Amino acid sequence: MGSYQKVKGTRDFIGLKAEELGIVKDAARKTARRYGYKEIITPIIENSKVFKKNVGEDSDIVNKEMYLFKDKGDRELALRPEGTAGVVRAYLENKLYATGLPLEKLFYFGPMFRYEQPQTGRYREFRQFGLEVFGKSSSFLLLDVILSAFGLFKELNVTNIVLKINSIGDFKARSQYADALRTYFSRYIALMCPDCQERIKTNPLRILDCKKDKDLIADGIKIMDHAPLIKDYLPDEAKKELHDVCSLLESFAIPYEVDPTLVRGLDYYTDIVFEFIIKSDDELNNLAVGGGGCYANLVKQMGNIDIPGLGYALGIDRLLANMENLGLFRNLKDDIDVVIISLDDLSKKEALKMAEVMRKDDLRAEMDYLNNNLKPQFKLCDKLNPRYIVIIGEDEIKSGEYTLKDVLHKTQNKYSLKELILKIKENRK
Ligand code: HAM
Repeated sequence: MGSYQKVKGTRDFIGLKAEELGIVKDAARKTARRYGYKEIITPIIENSKVFKKNVGEDSDIVNKEMYLFKDKGDRELALRPEGTAGVVRAYLENKLYATGLPLEKLFYFGPMFRYEQPQTGRYREFRQFGLEVFGKSSSFLLLDVILSAFGLFKELNVTNIVLKINSIGDFKARSQYADALRTYFSRYIALMCPDCQERIKTNPLRILDCKKDKDLIADGIKIMDHAPLIKDYLPDEAKKELHDVCSLLESFAIPYEVDPTLVRGLDYYTDIVFEFIIKSDDELNNLAVGGGGCYANLVKQMGNIDIPGLGYALGIDRLLANMENLGLFRNLKDDIDVVIISLDDLSKKEALKMAEVMRKDDLRAEMDYLNNNLKPQFKLCDKLNPRYIVIIGEDEIKSGEYTLKDVLHKTQNKYSLKELILKIKENRK
């Protein structure tokens, strides 16, 4: 091992792992396009205010987990911890609200950064596929957004995801709920962590996603389990909306559960929120592979334009781990098709030409660039494990007929270049 190691919580994707990531990325882009989304690529660094003010100053993501640094111009920048706030910034800055379309639908795919304690499915650099819709919402649009995620799961043959859904109402409902939480937690606050002692003053909802106090027991009860629920503070329209979305989910056979404790850890949400939960027999069971919801006020808060939004993001690292556990990559190979062996310098030049022709025809061709002896070249073949080997020597160049070894069937025949390409392609299908 060299003396350098990757930064804690980051990952290298090599060979087949990178291939897996590519498969998910391609499927995500294809699915998003089918649902009418166009791609947006925003910078990985943003002015820290984009997140501080909008994701929530007392959320864990901003308060504890953000990678912050000053650039040489003394500006405070952040590595983006999530995609939504940056997309809203870009939506406003590029005046995408002025297109005249009733909805602006955008998707993104890329790395996010959170300084979390690395564990199963949790990294410091991780990837998200997300989408955001700007414009007037409805339960039909909400369903469409949720269907797009299940569309991607289906595209990838992932069948073990359940939707958890809840409504957290408007700001008024949440402010009443915050008061109820304040009253409830004030009994236990002396036993709680310093962050929660702060949160009870600033935003008591964030106490509900505290990682330290989540199992705290006092007066013989797990206090989080007995906290007031938002559903008791929701206005009738919010209850109706949740009901309507649930009926639609049923009619589209989407597996879902209403979870009255779901409030999500970011401050911009209003009304419907949801998470996609992995159901499996392994360590990923019950982990959220994604989450999202509506945000009625975020665009207004960031740009003074009153346009509601909604969206979600999927954690691609968790999705990949789930797919690996389901065996969905079992047959994935990155074998090359053919190795060209050449017996002298003249043949090597010919081999190079042949490899070029093959590669232009979409074959994965490799050769030995150094050796003219057979032994090291066959050794290379053992390592690369191609389905075919072509041998080029003086005779082959003269006749234009090359020996093609079929490694699988242990046969060999002579073919012209055109014929051997056809032969290799035929058996690749
Ligand atoms: P989030 O729930 O914070 O939402 O993150 C979405 C997903 O990203 C999670 O469900 C999880 O799969 C993945 N994720 C989060 N943190 C990590 C981590 N440390 N390691 C691996 N995966 C992780 C958001 O980010 C919102 N911006 C989603 C959204 C879009 N809401 C509306 N639009």
